Amino acid sequence: MQKKWWQEAVVYQIYCKSFKDTNGDGVGDLAGVMEKLPMLKELGVTCIWFNPIYKSPQVDNGYDISDYQDIDPAYGTIEQFKELLDKAHAMGIRVVMDLVLNHTSDEHPWFKESRKSKDNPYRNYYVWRAPKENGKEPNNWGNYFYEGRGSAWQFDEATGEYYLHNYSWKMPDVNWEYEPLRQDMYKMMRWWLDLGVDGFRLDAINRLKKPEGLPDSKMPPAPPVGIYGYVVDRAICTNVPGIHELLREINKNVWSKYDMMTVGETGNLSSDGALDYICQDHNEIDMVFHFEIGKNPKIITVNEYKETQQRWIDLMKHNAWISQFLTNHDSPRQVSRFGNDGEYRVPSAKMLATLVHTMPGTPFIYQGEEIGMTNVYFDTIDDYNERYTVGKYNTMIEAGEKPEVALGKLRAMSRDNARTPYQWDGTDNAGFTSGKPWIKVNPRYPEINYERDRASADSIFDYYKKLTGLRREHPAVIDGDFRFLLYDDPKIVMFLRKCARETLLVVTNFSDDPVKVAFPEELRANKWKRVLTNREDTAPSLEGREEWLPWEAEVYTLSC
Ligand code: NOJ
Repeated sequence: MQKKWWQEAVVYQIYCKSFKDTNGDGVGDLAGVMEKLPMLKELGVTCIWFNPIYKSPQVDNGYDISDYQDIDPAYGTIEQFKELLDKAHAMGIRVVMDLVLNHTSDEHPWFKESRKSKDNPYRNYYVWRAPKENGKEPNNWGNYFYEGRGSAWQFDEATGEYYLHNYSWKMPDVNWEYEPLRQDMYKMMRWWLDLGVDGFRLDAINRLKKPEGLPDSKMPPAPPVGIYGYVVDRAICTNVPGIHELLREINKNVWSKYDMMTVGETGNLSSDGALDYICQDHNEIDMVFHFEIGKNPKIITVNEYKETQQRWIDLMKHNAWISQFLTNHDSPRQVSRFGNDGEYRVPSAKMLATLVHTMPGTPFIYQGEEIGMTNVYFDTIDDYNERYTVGKYNTMIEAGEKPEVALGKLRAMSRDNARTPYQWDGTDNAGFTSGKPWIKVNPRYPEINYERDRASADSIFDYYKKLTGLRREHPAVIDGDFRFLLYDDPKIVMFLRKCARETLLVVTNFSDDPVKVAFPEELRANKWKRVLTNREDTAPSLEGREEWLPWEAEVYTLSC
């Protein structure tokens, strides 16, 4: 069947703030992105996803929007954005915006009006509730950033009521029950699409609908905010009945009218409930980012990885499409989390990329991954910026935790691991800025940077180029059926992708150890041709192969 453009795409996620600064203010900007478009083209990228670049007080690095229809001055102007859009389009690169529909900044004009009085026309744009009789918050919900002592409600003196904020108190949740809010949101989305953007990554999209009556969470309170009676229950506002009707309505009014892509960020969604969102017959959204692999604080085993992939890939039989990614701006770096950022940094970075780019679905690259950037592990909380790490740290300290213990618990998962500046070269500040970067550069930059990687015979960037080339040249990467081999093996991830014209075989060793495997009998009689390897020192033929090196990744083809 004819594929949609976003099913064939290679998407590159740009965290503009940390990508490339051209004016020395320490913050990445649109001019920096424009400068690097040829590099993205060379990498084989066909679509960019911008983390929010709208006008924002930057409490949550842009997820707190104060004007949906303008660019934050730190990044540039709307004219520059249009120029970028034209340039990217002329190079065959589409542009997708990150759209935050669950909340705005408290500095958005809608909220400024809303808080003025109970009868203000914008009052119902947000979720306001009277205090309980004892003056306390309307329910026990905790905010996801562990701010203050943890409540998801903020009292507002002017009208004597609380407003809901599932994230920061600076990011009030909007009220999708209210028709004028919906209409304003539709108008805003059309404005971007008419300007020429190619789609949206939809932030926290399965949280737009709140549960009827806003009941207390039944989850047992846990430290640190549990001691104040609040419960951080990420499920309570997620996948609530009515969410699908709402998405279908948005789709009907806006998305269905454009040739665009939507990819929804859906925390707390397992493969069980996913088809309701992504089955194309439902007219909701095109794909989701699920976190059954990436965001789990527990490191997933190789067997769990396979089991999870299989469940999601099975959904594709029901007229659905999936995304492939391991990390993003909300998680640690993929080579640190799933690979080995020491001895095997280079082969493991390539091996992980092989999985992302050859499994069924649309691959997403997070900036820096293509040069093997690693976690940062700052020594002091003062170097951290992101709201969740700082909020949780403060609450842990207030609850009596020792600073080194609190930091120890947060470092490996901190979102700042992914947010340090792009390491362009070995000069000061990794060539990211001539000024003072808004967040410290990863001290490993003299060893790990773009310039050095490109000069290396073992370049990760070059390997990514080959992967994106594979996608262009081998139809099985996009269209092929999928079947795991050696499914129970705890270290080897091996699978076939088969379409009418060819079969691809992908073999990877997801471990630090050399692994001996009995090669599946069904593969032996065939003549496989190697088309990609991250270990040039191994024999190109499958015949007689018994051992796989640590983090080895190979792709073979068999033509019909
Ligand atoms: C998910 C985004 O990816 C994250 O960075 C942000 O903090 C929250 N949504 C709130 O918008």
